[in-house]
Amino acid sequence: MNSLCVLIMAAGKGTRMKSAIPKVLHPVLDNPIIDYVIRNVLSVGIPPENVGVLVGSGGERVEEYLQKKFPEVKILWQHEQLGTGHAVKSALEWWQNYENMIVLNGDLPLMKPESLKELISCCEKNDCTVITFNAENPGAYGRILRGENSVSIIEFKDASESQREIHEVNAGCYAFRVKALHEVIGLITNDNAQKEYYLPDALKLMNERGMSTGAFVMPEEQMQGVNTQSELANVSRVMREEIIARWLNEGVRIVDTGSVYIGVDVVLSPDVVIMPNVQLWGKTTVGTGSIIGSGSILRNATLGRNVNIIAYAVIENSTLNDNVKAGPFCYIRDNTVLEENSFAGKFVELKNSRIGRGSKVPHLSYMGDATLGHDVNIGAGSITCNYDGENKNKTHIGNNCFVGSNTMFVAPVELSDGAATAAGSVITQRVPENSLGVGRARQKNIADWSLRNHHQQHKGEN
Ligand code: UD1
Ligand code: MG
Repeated sequence: MNSLCVLIMAAGKGTRMKSAIPKVLHPVLDNPIIDYVIRNVLSVGIPPENVGVLVGSGGERVEEYLQKKFPEVKILWQHEQLGTGHAVKSALEWWQNYENMIVLNGDLPLMKPESLKELISCCEKNDCTVITFNAENPGAYGRILRGENSVSIIEFKDASESQREIHEVNAGCYAFRVKALHEVIGLITNDNAQKEYYLPDALKLMNERGMSTGAFVMPEEQMQGVNTQSELANVSRVMREEIIARWLNEGVRIVDTGSVYIGVDVVLSPDVVIMPNVQLWGKTTVGTGSIIGSGSILRNATLGRNVNIIAYAVIENSTLNDNVKAGPFCYIRDNTVLEENSFAGKFVELKNSRIGRGSKVPHLSYMGDATLGHDVNIGAGSITCNYDGENKNKTHIGNNCFVGSNTMFVAPVELSDGAATAAGSVITQRVPENSLGVGRARQKNIADWSLRNHHQQHKGEN
């Protein structure tokens, strides 16, 4: 017999969110609520095959997400959402083979591994143990009724005036001895204000049968459920502040902690400096000594050491090696790599390109599907014409090339090592090693033209 399983309830409608997105897929920073809950469970060493997630309302989307992110986690369907008691009962076939079970509301992204560990340890003590917290504003949470040696829960809508005064509330985290829960789960009724089957009623039923129930208190900050957009915003704020505090503690300098957002999977290093109004998302990593300038948004970006993002750079799924400089105002995306000491400057877009060591793309350029060797200089306004309407074609620029301003590379096309282009060239053919490619009309001057035309016509207008 397997000893412990964890059941996460994520089938509810989330009516109070007033959104078409299933509640547990709403993001806290840049990860869905359910992601935090499952990570927390896995972080205490529960094997993913012992974790079940109940899905129902919007369940296809939740299932799709989970299959991609946590393929070993068991998906359990609750086809009709008749309450948390009904949810747990509908997964009976799955959990009845375990000895103990933790049941968690799927809307608790701030819960910490320590609380979960403590809850797991309670499986030895009681037939059911719940986590509670003392809510400053207990709102619609279930109220905790403590007896001499037992605990039960009354839902807010069923509570009397005096019970509503109670500030100790149910967090939605339960440790059950499976044998005990098995006895009472079928006895829960929907005879209450919401006509729902309440899981918290299991405690009352256990108490009536002489089974043991208990509770322990955890801090409110980590036990807040997400039921409304306002609670989501609040939980996101707490998560944001926690992550920022963690990185400050690791030696990162955050100039304005109030305006910086850092996702949970971001990895920073000591002596990274983050200027105001920066967002770091996804699996972004930043090496020591790097500076992320104001207004920059990085997603799945890998930055080496001493990278200088001057300001207003958007960097997605790309790598900037040691000592790279970028910005202000650049967009670097789709597996672009900037090798050591290279530079992407003002109004520059780099897509799926490799910029060699020490090379510079300083102003007003688009390099798409291009490879640049080392020590290349790209003159202002140069672009790759990489798309012919059907295919994306490659541009190859060798080492030590000098590209004149406003060069158009009509891809596929190549500049061999040491080649140059004249400013304003449209390059459609390979430029051989150390040669100059000139691809523009020759200039012709027409004498006195202005006197005869232009200036005459406009005379007196200014
Ligand atoms: C629940 C508790 C309440 C507690 C609070 C803590 C019940 C009846 N009440 O209330 O005592 O203080 O959590 O946050 O349990 N779900 C299903 N299937 C359903 C209904 C709900 O899977 O049929 C899931 C939801 O997706 C959610 C969780 O169960 O993740 C809790 O449901 P929710 O509607 O948020 O319950 P609360 O009203 O918050
Ligand atoms: Mg809730």
